[in-house]
Amino acid sequence: MAQYDVVIIGGGPGGYNAGIRAGQLGLKAAVVEKRGTLGGTCLNVGCMPSKALLHASELYAQANTEFATLGIEVTPRLNLPQMMQQKTDSVTALTKGIELLFKKNKVDWIKGAGKITGAGKVEVTAEDGAVTTLEAKNIVIATGSEPAGLPGVTVDQERIVDSTGALSLPEVPKHLVVIGAGIIGLELGSVWRRLGAKVTVVEFLDRITPGMDAETAKTFQRALTKQGIEFRLGAKVTAAKATKKNVTLTLEPVAGGEAQSLEADYVLLAIGRRPFTDGLGLESVGIETDKRGFIPTDHFRTSAPGVWATGDVILGPMLAHKAEEDAVACIETIAGKYAHVDYNLVPSVVYTAPEVAWVGKTEEQLKAEGRAYKSGKFPFSANSRAKINHETEGFVKVLADAATDEILGVHMIGPQVGELIGEYCVAMAFRAASEDVARTCHPHPTRSEALRQAAMGVEGWTMQA
Ligand code: FAD
Ligand code: NAI
Repeated sequence: MAQYDVVIIGGGPGGYNAGIRAGQLGLKAAVVEKRGTLGGTCLNVGCMPSKALLHASELYAQANTEFATLGIEVTPRLNLPQMMQQKTDSVTALTKGIELLFKKNKVDWIKGAGKITGAGKVEVTAEDGAVTTLEAKNIVIATGSEPAGLPGVTVDQERIVDSTGALSLPEVPKHLVVIGAGIIGLELGSVWRRLGAKVTVVEFLDRITPGMDAETAKTFQRALTKQGIEFRLGAKVTAAKATKKNVTLTLEPVAGGEAQSLEADYVLLAIGRRPFTDGLGLESVGIETDKRGFIPTDHFRTSAPGVWATGDVILGPMLAHKAEEDAVACIETIAGKYAHVDYNLVPSVVYTAPEVAWVGKTEEQLKAEGRAYKSGKFPFSANSRAKINHETEGFVKVLADAATDEILGVHMIGPQVGELIGEYCVAMAFRAASEDVARTCHPHPTRSEALRQAAMGVEGWTMQA
């Protein structure tokens, strides 16, 4: 029987980073992954393929609508198979990269489905049915999440798809209906809108992207509406009937009233994700999930001695970089080091155009906590680099403690702000005051000046306009 210091079940960001860190720290580690490739949801059917399509479709949209303003005259023609192929090629290169990192750090990839069969025991069933048992001093569960379902809406990956299906549609839909105005719905809705589809987003709540600062979400909705995405807020889908070519949806206002029907040729169901623990054998070590299916943990320790958990399968934001933080901190704890993750400092980014990025508290959260705060806001329409680039939509907003000036939250919408939010993550990790950022020289002309100007705005001395 193969013996390990750590056996990790799941090869996504919450698993492969754990394997690599374990290898770096000299622990004998194995990662059990049942998918044919490493990288989990993120590399195979999540972050990476979605960003490949967002990048390509944004360039296509720019060529159609923005190049002429710059004096570049082109007539772009969509080659969808090639767009999909470059996505697949990038994904393959990335998943192979993880294999190389495993070799470099002496991490074994055990191919097959892992099941805990008792304390320190993981049984792996390979695709051909062969069963092996691994013995482990520590087991890390990193089995991730799967799309949540909706009664009355059956995902067939033909006409009614989840995010995985929406990353590989065989044609540009005439009318794509997206159920759920969350991050997946708006990123993938944007992809297909840019490629020419009519897109209608149906959302249960009376706002889009719950969790995002409300003022930012309003600006975001306005920007997407300008791009032609239609929103049906406060509406729920109660049925979806698919034929070979079409889907008929039944929509009901949440507040009550007449049901309506909506026709589409494709439907994307994106109403959230739920933790995945099917067939994992949790009962063999007495672990019970909470009522939403998450594995309860205390600093990554489950209720079973020697069994740990990281990533989407435990509480916290369902994000790849959070799973990575979990993985590193969990392994460092196993190795006897001190480690922790501050979930308040996990940034979020929506990779649409404009992008939305934030870290820390929203205004709504600060108000609910009764915390006195000051705010500074700076529009990209007053930032010289954004003006020169004709990308003036959006703003940066900094929220700081009214008494101490400590930065409590930062919310940005604008050109590639996902690349800018890291500056505030570092500042907040060092518990910076807004004045620290306001008095730090930033290069001119860059969009990053908007970060500084927003911080200056907290004390009312914004200078650029
Ligand atoms: P996963 O990545 O889901 O990995 C779990 C792995 O475990 C899977 O490969 C699965 O096959 C394997 N597994 C499960 N059970 C077993 C078993 N019993 N035996 C063996 N293997 C098993 N996050 C971001 O931060 N940025 C983004 O831009 C982003 N974009 C996304 C876009 C989409 C369309 C989707 C769906 C998600 C996106 N996410 C993004 C979220 C991100 O993918 C997840 O937060 C992240 O993958 C979670 O990592 P994980 O390791 O916990 O789980
Ligand atoms: P989400 O939680 O972001 O949004 C789901 C939306 O669906 C919400 O607005 C919710 O109110 C709505 N909804 C729920 N039930 C509904 C119903 N019956 N009818 C209509 N609307 C309904 O979930 P989403 O978009 O599926 O994404 C899942 C997770 O994946 C995200 O929470 C995020 O953690 C991760 N992700 C991250 C990305 C990024 O970081 N850029 C990109 C894509 C996904």
